[in-house]
Amino acid sequence: MKLNNGIMSLLPVMLAGSLGCGAPAQAQPATAAPDDTQVDVHQLFATTCGWCHSDGGRAAGKGPQLMDTKRDDEFIRNRIKNGKPGAMPAFGTTFSDAQIDQIIKYIRELKRSEG
Ligand code: HEC
Repeated sequence: MKLNNGIMSLLPVMLAGSLGCGAPAQAQPATAAPDDTQVDVHQLFATTCGWCHSDGGRAAGKGPQLMDTKRDDEFIRNRIKNGKPGAMPAFGTTFSDAQIDQIIKYIRELKRSEG
């Protein structure tokens, strides 16, 4: 029985044939992830939160005023992530932790608008 020898001798030929026809792999250009970095938190707040937290969070609307809040960071993070059933939607899947950090910072820095 010498069948094996016949198959083995074909292998190098098959391999050589398959090498030549591979199209060069297209490298995907690395695009910057749209989240985490460089988010315009003012814009984000205005479009996502502003219709309930009025005047950029400076005044009460459908939701309470956020400026000068006495809540701690953990409370605020928790409220943004989980919302409050029947009152505020949850944003835990919308924003990354880094983005929520920026929102908390934004709320802390709110000042009464001039005038
Ligand atoms: C649909 C209206 C609505 C939207 C949109 C909304 N909120 Fe709220 N939010 C509320 C209401 C109502 C409450 C009060 C919940 C309660 O009774 O404790 C609240 C509470 C909060 C609180 C806690 C305030 C406190 O002192 O108890 C924070 C912080 C907050 N919202 C941040 C945000 C942020 C940030 C966004 C946008 C990402 C947002 N909210 C979007 C309605 C909204």
